[in-house]
Amino acid sequence: MLAFATAATPWGVDALPVELEVDCRPGLPQMQIVGLPDAAIRESRERVRSALRNCGFAVPPRSVVVSLAPADLRKEGNHLDLAIALALLVAFEKLPQETLDGRLISGELGLDGSLRPVRGGLAMAQLADERGCRELLLPAANVAEAAGWGRGCVVGVKNLLELVDHLTGVAPVAATPPPDFPGQSREGGADLAEVRGQEGAKRALEIAAAGGHNVLLLGPPGSGKTMLARRVPGILPPLSREEAIAVTRVHSLSRGEPLAGLIDERPFRAPHASTSTAGLIGGGTIPRPGEVSLAHGGVLFLDELPEFRRDTLEALRQPLEEGQVSVVRSRARLTFPARFQLVAAMNPCPCGHLGDPRHRCRCPQPLVERYRSRISGPLLDRIDLHVEVPVPKLRELRGRGGESSAAVAERVRQARDRQAARLLGSVSPPINAAMGVEETRRHCALGAESVPLLEQAYQRLGLSARALDRVTKLARTIADLAGSDQIEAAHLAEAIQYRALDRRVDC
Ligand SMILES: Nc1ncnc2c1ncn2[C@@H]1O[C@H](COP(=O)(O)OP(=O)(O)O)[C@@H](O)[C@H]1O
Ligand SMILES: [Mg+2]
Repeated sequence: MLAFATAATPWGVDALPVELEVDCRPGLPQMQIVGLPDAAIRESRERVRSALRNCGFAVPPRSVVVSLAPADLRKEGNHLDLAIALALLVAFEKLPQETLDGRLISGELGLDGSLRPVRGGLAMAQLADERGCRELLLPAANVAEAAGWGRGCVVGVKNLLELVDHLTGVAPVAATPPPDFPGQSREGGADLAEVRGQEGAKRALEIAAAGGHNVLLLGPPGSGKTMLARRVPGILPPLSREEAIAVTRVHSLSRGEPLAGLIDERPFRAPHASTSTAGLIGGGTIPRPGEVSLAHGGVLFLDELPEFRRDTLEALRQPLEEGQVSVVRSRARLTFPARFQLVAAMNPCPCGHLGDPRHRCRCPQPLVERYRSRISGPLLDRIDLHVEVPVPKLRELRGRGGESSAAVAERVRQARDRQAARLLGSVSPPINAAMGVEETRRHCALGAESVPLLEQAYQRLGLSARALDRVTKLARTIADLAGSDQIEAAHLAEAIQYRALDRRVDC
């Protein structure tokens, strides 16, 4: 007898349908699975067999062929266990075929018939919705995340027997309702007011947050660089529901344990300097998102920037430029989103004390230069704000805290509203940092009084054409924060000043 089922398997941040056909006929008792890599077939076959037996279903001595299509797609076997088991039950005449029609199925089976969570639940809910499936059947642990998609009918069960009772109508399981989307709660997080002094750095972070620009914090150890970086997500606007879905899709692929629902906070990722290129950028035989993608929609904090391997840093260029990462696997190209805000930090020299009036820096000048040159020009070019974070004065440390994150976030929101009004529909996301050459030309016109400033920056600072382009976009953000439609000379001057640091190695 023939049986059919549709399973879902992750493919990058998406989910793809896998059509199953099971043919069961008298013959040598064996189960053949075609369309899966060898190791996955063996494992899946054993899990399904044991689960069926341990749930009390006799596996009749028949010749069974399970065919999975499309055959050339590299599938992860464990997602298909549940659909294989259910299709076998239909083939063995324990379940009517209609119970599987119009249902999308995904789940890994334990040997006792329990259901183990799978990756990519949210993307599967989208797939089920787009295909007009009447139900998405998932392990219970996955439904909180999958229901976050907001449409369609998501049913979660703990084991195979519970699912069979649901399908036959003996004990139907209610669909999980979509959760409310509360938006980011700002209470209890680290607040900018806790950072004393550092007004210059705080201003730079406000500008960075307003336009989505990348920042490099340069200062001696203990000056508060890490503290400042951790407070950037708190001044960014809350995630919209669409952004939360994009963030959740990525995290759903990499977490060991299932997500408790939509992620509604902007990610903050701080990979260690020893992280490999694959760890940072993504990759692997079954491609997984790297740190740049896990930071999508939020902040990627690279502390001790010169300690990262040079080739790892160079690999950052593509995501910084394109907001995504492409991985080519078995004739197919996968893309992971990677639009993050880069906050990098470094000491001014190997000993860290350069420019600290309380300690003598003993680093010879060539060593300082070698240390700084570990970060290549093209990477520095893509960092719009180079900011000095000096050792705070005692008076500052003992003084009152400055503005709260909420107050800064409100100005950032207003500046982003101005950008959205200008860019919505032509630039995605509608922020200044994401403008292409054409939009920059259209929206960043400079007055006559600004041209000499630009000329000076080009000649004296030796800025590249790309850097000049980015300076203009930064000036646009500074004007937006000031509520100005025009980029004034003062806005451009401030933007240029954030470029001056890396040219000045003053021992
Ligand atoms: N400006 C500051 N205001 C308040 N505390 C500070 C400040 N700078 C440093 N600190 C204190 O020093 C600690 C170390 O700061 P950190 O951010 O780790 O410095 P860095 O990353 O520059 O080495 C912080 O946890 C905080 O307690
Ligand atoms: Mg630090």
